[in-house]
Amino acid sequence: MLYDNHNRPVNYLRLAVTDRCNLRCFYCMPEEGIQYLPKQELMSYEEMLRIVRMMVGLGIDKLRITGGEPFIRRDMMDFLGEMSRLEGLQQIHITTNGVVTAPLVPELKRLGIRSVNLSLDTLDRRLFHEITRRDDFDKVIQTFEALLTHGITTKINAVMMEGKNDNDLVPLAMLTKDHPVGVRFIEEMPFNGGEAHYDQLWWSHRRILEVLQDQFPGLEKLPDPPSSTSYNYQIPGHRGTVGIIAAYSRTFCGTCNRIRLTPQGMLKTCLYDDGVFNIKNLLRAGASDDQLGAAVLEALGNRAKDGFEAEGRRLFGLRVSESMATIGG
Ligand code: 5AD
Ligand code: SF4
Repeated sequence: MLYDNHNRPVNYLRLAVTDRCNLRCFYCMPEEGIQYLPKQELMSYEEMLRIVRMMVGLGIDKLRITGGEPFIRRDMMDFLGEMSRLEGLQQIHITTNGVVTAPLVPELKRLGIRSVNLSLDTLDRRLFHEITRRDDFDKVIQTFEALLTHGITTKINAVMMEGKNDNDLVPLAMLTKDHPVGVRFIEEMPFNGGEAHYDQLWWSHRRILEVLQDQFPGLEKLPDPPSSTSYNYQIPGHRGTVGIIAAYSRTFCGTCNRIRLTPQGMLKTCLYDDGVFNIKNLLRAGASDDQLGAAVLEALGNRAKDGFEAEGRRLFGLRVSESMATIGG
């Protein structure tokens, strides 16, 4: 088992396999002029495999593949196959926007992928187009249906945006009526690739909860799993659950069990840090697995106690120029 300097067990790695995406969600990226990383800056599959294997040796047993959009990286399914064969890695989860995912779902099931988080902020096709700047709503719904058909545990991530999807809170929560799905409402964070629209947190976790309580009397609090980032609830009689993720208010840091690797190989011990060191560069400079492991342990020995401390340690404070697509969503 891995522990950090605050005695938190760390067993969960979020690996962003690409910074590229086939959508342009307005809270994540600008519409145009995105500077993607040059290919040689990205970790290769061989490098990722070696780093993940080394980390599994240290005590990581849960992996999330994220991005950008993971499934637009070439040969992604082969890489997933390799990951699924890694001894000691107990669970693999994936976050996807669902645009190209539907035909891959049977193979995801075969590989034993534990769960898929689907980013879907609205059930209104026109609003989907406005938010993501692409007209791909139907493809995402096909992915949702395929996931349910194949019995893959599915969560829906919806970022709540003032003046955009306010009216979607209830319809999205209603998906839990007939489907065994976890719908999670996420506070918007100021990482959006450089657009200045973020002025304040309009939809806080408290406000989201108030609306849910108001609209669904009898909303029941569920026990939250250890290290959960969401507060979970059930609407009486519904098959699925609803959750609220206080991504900006950062209420969950006390039990944080996760670290992140960005597509260019930066290790982040907190979503809100600058990145503590670049493990790909160390690997390319010829470091052994033991040396890579020692560097990870050192980073975990100096981990900020929460997202506010991590933010305070940043050289230039929070920058909207960053994006969840380069941080690893
Ligand atoms: N604030 C909150 N969530 C975000 N995501 C991307 N950008 C932001 C942001 N600025 C979410 C996506 C996806 C997850 C990986 O991160 O909606 O579901
Ligand atoms: Fe792509 Fe996800 Fe960013 Fe949307 S939020 S642009 S789907 S990476």
